[in-house]
Amino acid sequence: MTLENIKLDIDYVRSQFPAFKDPLSKDWSFFENAGGSYVPKNVIEKLNEFMTSTKVQPYAEYPMSKIAGENMDKATELFAKMINAKKNEILIGGSTSINLYVLSNALKKYIKPGDEIIVTNQDHEANISPWRRLKDNGAKIIEWRFNLENQELELNELQKLISTKTKILAVTHCSNIVGSINKLKQISDLAHKKDIIVIGDGVSFAPHGFPDVKDLNVDFYTFSLYKTYGPHLGLMYGREEILKDLPNQNHEFLNGQYPYTINPGGPNHEELVSLLGIYEYFENLYNHHFKNKKLQIREKINKINTLISDHEEIISNPILEYLNSRKDINLIGKSKIINKNRAPTISFTSTKKSSKNISDQLIKNKIATRNDNFYAWRCLEALGIDKKDGVVRLSMTHYNSLEDTNKLINSLDKI
Ligand SMILES: Cc1ncc(COP(=O)(O)O)c(C=O)c1O
Repeated sequence: MTLENIKLDIDYVRSQFPAFKDPLSKDWSFFENAGGSYVPKNVIEKLNEFMTSTKVQPYAEYPMSKIAGENMDKATELFAKMINAKKNEILIGGSTSINLYVLSNALKKYIKPGDEIIVTNQDHEANISPWRRLKDNGAKIIEWRFNLENQELELNELQKLISTKTKILAVTHCSNIVGSINKLKQISDLAHKKDIIVIGDGVSFAPHGFPDVKDLNVDFYTFSLYKTYGPHLGLMYGREEILKDLPNQNHEFLNGQYPYTINPGGPNHEELVSLLGIYEYFENLYNHHFKNKKLQIREKINKINTLISDHEEIISNPILEYLNSRKDINLIGKSKIINKNRAPTISFTSTKKSSKNISDQLIKNKIATRNDNFYAWRCLEALGIDKKDGVVRLSMTHYNSLEDTNKLINSLDKI
């Protein structure tokens, strides 16, 4: 519970998301948030405003252009503050997959034949393939495998894999299948003792509370803004000391102008500006629940994070308990959320029915979900799960309600 014993006002939260009133979606319980989240009205408004008044090439002196540029800068700056980074440590790209590919290309310069790169088999492929490809540059790829008994990535295993040749470690903060929160700070601390560059994938973590990247001590951290209540963009944080030495992958004359030099082109202007709407939504959420208006942005985010995790725990644990109680269900990952040790991203298979069959029946009951491997196919392979049928994944976020939880459990029970 939060110190002030304040609970998330779920009615207020849902009133901010137009999808809950839209004729197409209003009757559905939405359990596909790890795929992509709904957006608050603020995001739609900012997008609309940009397209209506400032949809011109930004950064010229006439007002439409000046305001467009100012809003792009403001959105980047506010997002930097939300995750405790500096403005010039933020890169906005088309998606996390694109950002990580672009980063791996830039980091090639540090790789010489015989160097080692550690990847996991728990990650989404976005944080595996770009690093595995560096074998073409002579890198030796080492796989940190999760424990098959509990599906956890264990630090003592990592310790055995690290050597004086390890240069890069790519690891997820939270797997989009297993759901456990990995000890990214401890992982980074361990890796930094050997000067290893740590790349954390926060795609399945960030929707449940924006991280403090400095506290995590990572060198790079990525998440997908379309899963954190925004448009289809990806954000990547990069530690300035490393960013400024990366090669220019943009136009030649931009040399030295990091972070703009990392991406081969600029961001999507209107979508970048719509991120102001995410900030505004979180600011409103804070003001709705808390009195102290003097806190810094990051301090407010910390408070909201606690509010969100408390709520997510309440709506997820009954589902985990239900699935765990059934002999015919193989629940993946932890069976209870305690102190944010797990995200409300819950995957399972059945011994009696295909994942597709279960997912199809849930959809008939107006529960939006799906069966898939969700591009974490190495994780499914290790678990011996058919990659085509995949798992049923039920992923919630703070706007899901206890009504959603009860409806889901009732439907699963009937199925
Ligand atoms: C954990 C995780 N990492 C990375 C990605 C890739 O993100 P994007 O779709 O932005 O490329 C996803 C997408 O689902 C994901 O779940």
